[in-house]
Amino acid sequence: MKLTVVGAGNVGATVAECVARMDIVSEIALIDIVEGVAKGKALDLWESAPIHGFDTSLVGGDDYALTEGSDITVITAGLPRKPGMSRDDLLAKNAAIVGSVTEQIVSRSPNTILIIVSNPLDVMTYVAYMTSGFPSQRVMGMAGILDTARYRAFLATELNVSVKDISAMLLGGHGDTMVPLPRYTFIGGKALPSMLPEQRINEIVERTKKGGGEIVGLMGTSAWYAPGAAAAQMVEAIVKDSNRILPAAAWATGQYGLNDLFIGMPVKLGTGGIKEIIELDLSDEEMAMMNNSAEHVREIVASYERIKETAMA
Ligand code: NAI
Ligand code: 2OP
Repeated sequence: MKLTVVGAGNVGATVAECVARMDIVSEIALIDIVEGVAKGKALDLWESAPIHGFDTSLVGGDDYALTEGSDITVITAGLPRKPGMSRDDLLAKNAAIVGSVTEQIVSRSPNTILIIVSNPLDVMTYVAYMTSGFPSQRVMGMAGILDTARYRAFLATELNVSVKDISAMLLGGHGDTMVPLPRYTFIGGKALPSMLPEQRINEIVERTKKGGGEIVGLMGTSAWYAPGAAAAQMVEAIVKDSNRILPAAAWATGQYGLNDLFIGMPVKLGTGGIKEIIELDLSDEEMAMMNNSAEHVREIVASYERIKETAMA
């Protein structure tokens, strides 16, 4: 199995490191427009192999020949969010980057599975889908694992329990309209609403929605440890054909009453990519939040289409 990670910045390098340490693929190609960074990080990671004890080989550079025959490709290329910048501000620049990266990847790896990380996430996944012409099972975006991880981490601190005993699901776009689902959050089998007052749950949900911005505020750039680990978990589920059910941005074909957009939903991941999209029973209120989130994603897709038309005129 071969993995390519495009973008050898903070998130890309972390994905490469996490997957290498899992020792589940034979080769990782790390690509960046800045050749030395990709080459240097791949070499540095490979030099850590004897210490960690993994056999995954790593190569890096700016030459897409290195990506030939990849089974899975994670695209993190693009600009990260800076303070005061919304994910949507990144739209025009990152759409151009993700479009051109996708073209170069699919010409050398026509059977690859694409996992998009670049922001704004749901729309960048749409750009990769449209550019690649791939079936929707092979194109997905990473966000829900990260967002639920933040939510679970906050809950573990709040309730003084292990993160391992908190399971959670989340729907919607990657942004302030995401839809964490307290009704589908369980702590050692007990539903969250029976364990915390509603107001405190709402505060934790709000912190989760703004979790990306909290890190940007602290560091001046966006997060990478949790995002990198989240993308690596998707790679692992596909490589091991483990049928994990994880939240990811997937192409809606009627699920939750939605069509023709990428949005976060629970998906079953394994060989070939998305095997199934899982539909949870939603209350009227949860469905309204999902529709609101979908509306927001559609607005950004419409902005992207406008930018594209202007550029082509
Ligand atoms: P970074 O700036 O550390 O790395 C981005 C890398 O992309 C840089 O090394 C840059 O040289 C490279 N790059 C730019 N244009 C390229 C091109 N045309 N071809 C190849 N490489 C190119 O940024 P970071 O922190 O790694 O974030 C990457 C992206 O991921 C950002 O768009 C960020 O907003 C997004 N992100 C998404 C998350 C999610 O949950 N989906 C979470 C965290 C970040
Ligand atoms: C995050 O949620 C910025 O999307 C990125 O950390």
